Amino acid sequence: MSSVITLKGRGVTKIIKSKVMLSPLAGVTDKIFRKLVRKWAPDSLLFTEMINATSLKKGYGTQKIKQLELEKGPIGVQIFDNRPFAISEAAKLAENSGAFLIDINMGCPVKKISRKGGGSALIKDRLLAIELVKRVSKAVNLPVTVKTRLGWDNKKENIEDFLLNLQDSGATMITIHGRTRKQGFSGSSDWDMIGRIKDLLEIPVIANGDIKSPEDAINCFKKTNADGLMIGRGILGSPWTIGQIDFSIKKLKDFKEPNIEEKLLLIIEHLDELIKEKGDHGLLIARKHISWTCKNFPGAISLRHKLVRAIDADEVKALINKTIESLNTDQKILT
Ligand SMILES: Cc1cc2nc3c(=O)[nH]c(=O)nc-3n(C[C@H](O)[C@H](O)[C@H](O)COP(=O)(O)O)c2cc1C
Repeated sequence: MSSVITLKGRGVTKIIKSKVMLSPLAGVTDKIFRKLVRKWAPDSLLFTEMINATSLKKGYGTQKIKQLELEKGPIGVQIFDNRPFAISEAAKLAENSGAFLIDINMGCPVKKISRKGGGSALIKDRLLAIELVKRVSKAVNLPVTVKTRLGWDNKKENIEDFLLNLQDSGATMITIHGRTRKQGFSGSSDWDMIGRIKDLLEIPVIANGDIKSPEDAINCFKKTNADGLMIGRGILGSPWTIGQIDFSIKKLKDFKEPNIEEKLLLIIEHLDELIKEKGDHGLLIARKHISWTCKNFPGAISLRHKLVRAIDADEVKALINKTIESLNTDQKILT
């Protein structure tokens, strides 16, 4: 099996040097979070949050694609919409901003989006889905990819046929979250079915759903024979996970997972970046990341309670510094 993923756009061939990718995650995978993930995953394809094409065309949400070319490593831009013109225009804007590829969201189950015909609703409106892939593939030189699910209501909707049509229409890679729209996040990701789809398609197939550790990744590769893996929830609170999984797949030994002190310092680093970019609102955004990161060590629960109630960044930092001091004191007593 090749160690890289090769994607052919209309005008370019792009190579991804890692088989482990970051999912697009609304409210999470912004520029600041991607910078943290990148520390451990220099080669991985990372994604923006999903972006509404119509809004982007009207000038809203442009910060989500700003200066992608200045970021280290490949960044895919994920767009959702059901309007072919809007989605093609948004794709051009993303291309001009340095996107590595354009991904069309055909899997989002959120009602606000699917009711308007975007996201997972495209699994039902297959002709429109095909039209979107064709139009975007003509509008940009970059590879155009699709992220979708196994069906709308159930797995007997001949999703295989749908995916073959997307492939024929110009999609250069398909990511499959192994659940239906109806399942949301219930049940488990059907890696067997992803494997059957992988056998069928000629373009790279990326398996997604329930991969959170190097062991999951190995099992998923065994079951699906997929060309790559995409990690979503497994990155929440641990931005090193993708690098860690990539490390184990490449059979590089000794991945150094951050220790407690390093995890706490990471919270401060993330918070500082958020405040610099977004002012006081940065603290509100930081709180969810804090509650994801501050866990699984002695005293984490009580510290987390205090951190998410802190009224400003100084209080967060004081609490963390005090915890680090006591960790170091404990360490000295033990040695
Ligand atoms: C907070 C959150 C935000 C998400 N946002 C997006 C998104 O913007 N676009 C998308 O295609 N999928 C989105 N997803 C779905 C994930 O990309 C992924 O397909 C799903 O979580 C399954 O993978 P996992 O088990 O590794 O989390 C989101 C999921 C979560 C939990």
